[in-house]
Amino acid sequence: MAESTRTLEWDGATGDHWVAYEEKYNAAVFRYSERLFAGADVRPDDRVLDIGCGCGQTTRVAAELAAKGSAHGVDLSAAMLAQARARAAEEGLDNVRFEQADAQVHDFAAGAYDLAISRNGVMFFDDPVAAFANVRRALRPAGRLAFVCWRAPEESEYSLVPRAALGRYVTLPGPGGANEPGPNSLADPDRVRDVLGRAGLVDVRLDPEDELMDLGADLDEAMDFVLNRPHVRGPLSEVDAPTAAKATDELRTALTPYVTPAGVLLRSPAWLVTAHAPA
Ligand SMILES: C[S@@+](CC[C@H](N)C(=O)[O-])C[C@H]1O[C@@H](n2cnc3c(N)ncnc32)[C@H](O)[C@@H]1O
Repeated sequence: MAESTRTLEWDGATGDHWVAYEEKYNAAVFRYSERLFAGADVRPDDRVLDIGCGCGQTTRVAAELAAKGSAHGVDLSAAMLAQARARAAEEGLDNVRFEQADAQVHDFAAGAYDLAISRNGVMFFDDPVAAFANVRRALRPAGRLAFVCWRAPEESEYSLVPRAALGRYVTLPGPGGANEPGPNSLADPDRVRDVLGRAGLVDVRLDPEDELMDLGADLDEAMDFVLNRPHVRGPLSEVDAPTAAKATDELRTALTPYVTPAGVLLRSPAWLVTAHAPA
């Protein structure tokens, strides 16, 4: 496995954080999951690859839908994969497996999958063309690809609102540029078409999904979720206690208008991207 800085981060503190907040992340993005599975159209015989599967919720859903097929989740984080295996065992799934692998370079068997999916796990590649070409080789002829990824952060309340509130008191790392590995690397639709086209994929389609992130059932849950995200918790721990308290108060005020009976809901536009390997 490549041991880049990002590899070590996911297979370290960031992965551990995602395990601790597994249920909150799953709840936060459930609307995007529904969009993903609507686009992926998993069939009963499909052999599914889940790229950047994390704690494996989408892999397990794929395994249930592909009841006569199988689902294979790959991720960089050993901790998240351990959680994924434990959940699959709890659910009694016997057609799912998880493997620690860097999807951009892993030696997948050629043509081994009918479908590759990802819920926000394909934006972190150092060389996205090489990575998607690797995924394309793993697909059978005419095999399908479906993933969700974020649109521009400047369109996202989920990105902007906490940043504006906390940023008055704390220096947060940038949201991640459109051309660098990170959550926004596939925000630009022209770049997505270019990357996937150069990776040898065809019929590339991007559907805008104007969905809502659910940060928690109430304001306290949403505060806990945001304040413990790694890019927030680190910088917040470096300022003095009165400054951290002011930042926290500002965040609470900023999130209050988003509290609804259905949760603390912030707009976060995404793409549903679908493509095929050549026939
Ligand atoms: C934003 S998280 C999403 C996790 C999961 N798909 C979900 O929706 O809960 C991104 C995931 O991609 C994984 N990841 C990043 N780069 C990867 C790579 N090159 N190969 C495999 N997994 C990768 C990370 O370890 C992390 O679990």
